[in-house]
Amino acid sequence: MSTTSVIYRHTSVYNLLMRGLYGRHYGARFEAIAALIPDGAEVLDLCCGPATLYTRYLRGKSVRYKGFDINERFVDRVVAAGGDGLVWNLREDTALPRADYVVMQASLYHFLPDPDPVVRRMLEAAREQVILAEPIRNLTTSSNRTLARLSGRFTDAGEGAQAHRFTRDTLDRALARYADRIASTSLIAGGREQLYVLTPHPRAHVTSAS
Ligand SMILES: C[S@@+](CC[C@H](N)C(=O)[O-])C[C@H]1O[C@@H](n2cnc3c(N)ncnc32)[C@H](O)[C@@H]1O
Repeated sequence: MSTTSVIYRHTSVYNLLMRGLYGRHYGARFEAIAALIPDGAEVLDLCCGPATLYTRYLRGKSVRYKGFDINERFVDRVVAAGGDGLVWNLREDTALPRADYVVMQASLYHFLPDPDPVVRRMLEAAREQVILAEPIRNLTTSSNRTLARLSGRFTDAGEGAQAHRFTRDTLDRALARYADRIASTSLIAGGREQLYVLTPHPRAHVTSAS
């Protein structure tokens, strides 16, 4: 049986490390996502962590927010912040509830070596867009050895350590089969994360139907 990394057991440690890893780009990574979501939208945030996207960047937009995470402590934070939180293991092949925007940030690596099932379920659930942002610099090989060691602990959310991360190339390859649904890609958080916006249906279909 695996042990959840100390980082995921203590929300304050988790928050400190995330701030350390992203430095002055910490806020920008959330702002980039929030900017894509209109007022009043229904948002499903997968692997939501301790609800930072909601509490600091989305709550003012009066969105209807649902945050799912495998970590009960994080889900408790979502609920305490007034969101709708649910403990949910995204490795399980269970259909997700529908939402206008389905978001996943800095978490797709947890589903390696085959992230496709979770991406497919996200596309099935989204009415408007899937917003996916993923680190593409391997922080676990940072030249700062302490930071590298700590960030390596991010790989165990309670189901055992996942050793692998994405690079820009492997992330592009993982999403290649959805090329006709990718509306945009961009770098955010000072180049630390690659952001993809996907439409739930092939874009040619969307265009011809309008
Ligand atoms: C690096 S954190 C990112 C949190 C937040 N999205 C952010 O960007 O600040 C990764 C999150 O994925 C969650 N997670 C890992 N494996 C999961 C799984 N199988 N099902 C649901 N959540 C999972 C962890 O508990 C953690 O909250």
